[in-house]
Amino acid sequence: MFGLPRPSGKAFAYGVQSLIDAFHRAGQGHVFAFLDRLDAAERSRLFAEAAEVDLAELDRLKRTLLGTAAAVEVGDLAPAPYVPLPDNGGDSLKWIQARAAGEEALRAGRVAVFTVAGGQGTRLGFDGPKGTYPVTPVRRRPLFAVFADKLRAAERRYGRRIPWFILTSHQNHDATEAFFAQHRWFGLQPEQVLCLRQGRMPAVDSSGRILLETPGSLALSPDGHGGSLRALERAGAFDRMQAAGADIISYFQVDNPLVRAIDPAFIGWHLLTGSEMSSKMVPKAHPEEKVGMFCRRHGRTCVIEYSDLPLERQREVDPATGKLRFLAGSIAIHLFSRDFARRVARGEDGMALPFHRAEKKIPTIDADGRSIQPARPNGIKFELFVFDALPFAAHPLVLETDRAGDFAPVKNAEGADSPATCRDAQLRLFASWLRACGAELPVDANGQPPFPIEVSPLFGDDLAAFAESWRRLEPKPSPVPAGLCLGADA
Ligand code: UTP
Repeated sequence: MFGLPRPSGKAFAYGVQSLIDAFHRAGQGHVFAFLDRLDAAERSRLFAEAAEVDLAELDRLKRTLLGTAAAVEVGDLAPAPYVPLPDNGGDSLKWIQARAAGEEALRAGRVAVFTVAGGQGTRLGFDGPKGTYPVTPVRRRPLFAVFADKLRAAERRYGRRIPWFILTSHQNHDATEAFFAQHRWFGLQPEQVLCLRQGRMPAVDSSGRILLETPGSLALSPDGHGGSLRALERAGAFDRMQAAGADIISYFQVDNPLVRAIDPAFIGWHLLTGSEMSSKMVPKAHPEEKVGMFCRRHGRTCVIEYSDLPLERQREVDPATGKLRFLAGSIAIHLFSRDFARRVARGEDGMALPFHRAEKKIPTIDADGRSIQPARPNGIKFELFVFDALPFAAHPLVLETDRAGDFAPVKNAEGADSPATCRDAQLRLFASWLRACGAELPVDANGQPPFPIEVSPLFGDDLAAFAESWRRLEPKPSPVPAGLCLGADA
C-alpha cells in the first residue's frame, strides 16, 4: 500500500511523483491522463484515491480473475452438518450448558459487537445510511437505536461494557458518525462505539485497466462485507478488543432489527465446540429462497450462494427426512474468535479471502474525458465476502436459530425482505411474547396482531427477558391496547 504524504510542499510533490511512477510501472498510468485539466483540489483528490489502490493486489487480481469467470465448483458438494434447536431434535441439556457458558463469557467481558453497515442500500432506495432507517412499528426507532438498546440491555444484564464496532463506507461514514453524535450515542458511551471505514476497490475494464469515473476520480466501490475484517485490522480494532479483554466478535448486518446481537447460547456453543468461526442457519423457507447455503466441499464448511447452485440441486430432497437436502440457509450472523479474524484480515497462513468479480455497468469516461453511461456491462468490480472465512476456520460450527426471533432483514423497498415484512415480523414476535405471558391480544392465523405494538429491547430482548419484565410490570396492560410501547422510557 502507498501512504500519501500530506498535500503540502516538496514532500508532497515527491510523494506524488513516486505514486505516478508506480502507476506507470503497473500499466495504470492512464489514470493521470487528465491531470493538466484538474485544479489543485481535484488533483489532490485524485492522488488520494490513487494512494488507496494496492497495485500489487490489483496486479494479482488481473492475472487470476480477468478473462472468463470460473464457475463455482458444486459437483461434489454436500450439505454441512448443523446443530439443531431443541425443538427440532437438538440436545436440550447441551443448549442449557451452552447458554450458561455464553453468559459466563459475557460476564467476563469477552464479547465485542461488529455491525457491517458499509453497503450502498441500493435496493431499499433510502436516502441516508441504512442504519438510520426508522424500522420499529410504533416509535419508528432507527436500526442503530435498536442495536444500541440491545447492547444496553446486555450491559445491564451482564454488568460489562460491550465495545461496538460499526463498518461504514466512504459514502456514509460522516453521516453515520454525525447521526450517533446527534442522538448522544443512544445512551452508550461515545468511546465504546467506533465507526471504521471500509476499503474501496477500483473497477477495471476487460484488460485490467482501472476505469476513471470522471477525469479527476477513479471508479471506486466498497470492497464488500469481507473487507470488514481488513478494516478492523487497519483501524486497530483488534488491538482495542485485546486491550478490553474481548476475544469473541459478534458479527451481524445492519439491516436486521430482530438479530440477537448478543446471544449467550450461540456464544456458548462457539466456545464449547472450540470453533474459530460459527454461523447461524435457518431452514430455507422454500427451495428458491435467495439465501446462501451452508455446504461441505473438500472436507471444509463453506457458504454457496444461491446463484451458484443450480435450482434442481436446491430442490433436492433428503429421502430420510423428507426435507430439502441443502436446507441450511445463511442469515449472515457469525461469531469470530478475535485472533482467527485477525489472521484472516492479515491473510496469514494462506488465509486471505478470495475476491469475487462481478461484471457491471460502470459510469466512466471516453478518451476525451466525456462521460459515458454504459447500456451494457463494461467493467469488473471486485468484492470480498465474509463467509469465505469459514473454510479456513478450525471446528466451524453451524447452529440453527428460529427465524421468527432472529431474522427479518430490510433489503428491498417492496415485496420480500422489505419494511412491510420486517414490520410484520416484529409485530408477530412482540405479540407472541405478550401472549406467552398471558396478555389478552387477538392475532390472526399468522400470529399477526390487528394493530401496531412495540417492545423495546430494554424491556425484553427475548422471551425470558420479556417475561421477567412483564412479571414486575403493574398494572399489566391487558387487554393490550393499540399502539402499546413497552420499555419506551427505559
Ligand atoms: P447487501 O448485500 O444486502 O447489500 O449487504 P446492501 O449494500 O446493504 O444493499 P444493496 O445490495 O445495495 O441493495 C449485506 C450487509 O453487508 C453490508 C451491508 O451494509 C449490509 O449490512 N455491506 C455490504 C458492507 O458493509 N460493505 C459492503 O461493501 C457490502
